Amino acid sequence: MEGNIARNRAELAGKLTNVLDSRSLTYSHKRLASILKEGMKVLDLGCGTGAITRGIAESLGPKGWVVGIDSNPNLIEKARQNHGKTPGLTFETGDIFNLTYEGEFDIVTCARVLIWLSDPLKALQMMKSAAKIGGRILVVDYNHEKISWEPAPPSSMTSFYSTYLKWRSDAGMNNAIADDLTNMFREIGIQDIIITPQHEVSNRTDSNFNTNIRIWADTASSRGIQMERDGYITEIEYITAEKEYREWMTKEAQSLTMYMLAVEGVRTL
Ligand SMILES: C[S@@+](CC[C@H](N)C(=O)[O-])C[C@H]1O[C@@H](n2cnc3c(N)ncnc32)[C@H](O)[C@@H]1O
Repeated sequence: MEGNIARNRAELAGKLTNVLDSRSLTYSHKRLASILKEGMKVLDLGCGTGAITRGIAESLGPKGWVVGIDSNPNLIEKARQNHGKTPGLTFETGDIFNLTYEGEFDIVTCARVLIWLSDPLKALQMMKSAAKIGGRILVVDYNHEKISWEPAPPSSMTSFYSTYLKWRSDAGMNNAIADDLTNMFREIGIQDIIITPQHEVSNRTDSNFNTNIRIWADTASSRGIQMERDGYITEIEYITAEKEYREWMTKEAQSLTMYMLAVEGVRTL
């Protein structure tokens, strides 16, 4: 039951798909970028519209192979349109909980996905099974409870944000998952754990500041519709949060830090 609620709430639409398109291997999955080697076989779970997955394929070279899987067929369709011609790259619609791969990949990764699941431990177990013995499992995810804005955004947004976290946790999602990943890795016997802080810091002077900081305006407009449908917020509340946040972005915002960790380890059994 909780799993179905989480599944519905995780479904991604609206302007948030543009956020996925703006990501890249170099900026959005830095630890993975640093450990990829030519010719590897990589599985990218919850690949969205495939921008990061394409970067993985390019980095692996002609002997490499990467499979991007996402449960949302619309995103896979978009991924195929945008990146389908890249050599060594395949996209499939599929569910992280129903993977059929066993012992096949040098690296099994997922970025910003486990935070959307009500049973992330089971997903991690599936990731471990898909990795070769000696292969690596690499998860990058947020602790949304440790976000920080400078200066504070309008109260309409802070109020939207706390309702958003409640809407998520009521569906069984762990808003603080980044800090729980290490224990989860240990629990299922993944060895040689390495934790790399990968906080997303955006400062006003950065060229991509607007693209990065507007994620919360886009979240208000896209997730607001779902949260209203689920009885958590009114239309006027999320529209006001989006509008006032966009004004704050233009006039006042100095920085946004989204707390994120990359946690990885090795499958030994
Ligand atoms: C926030 S997006 C992250 C996309 C991409 N990895 C990135 O970092 O830009 C989360 C993705 O996970 C996908 N997803 C959610 N639940 C899933 C599941 N059970 N199996 C596969 N993909 C899932 C969603 O459709 C969405 O595309």
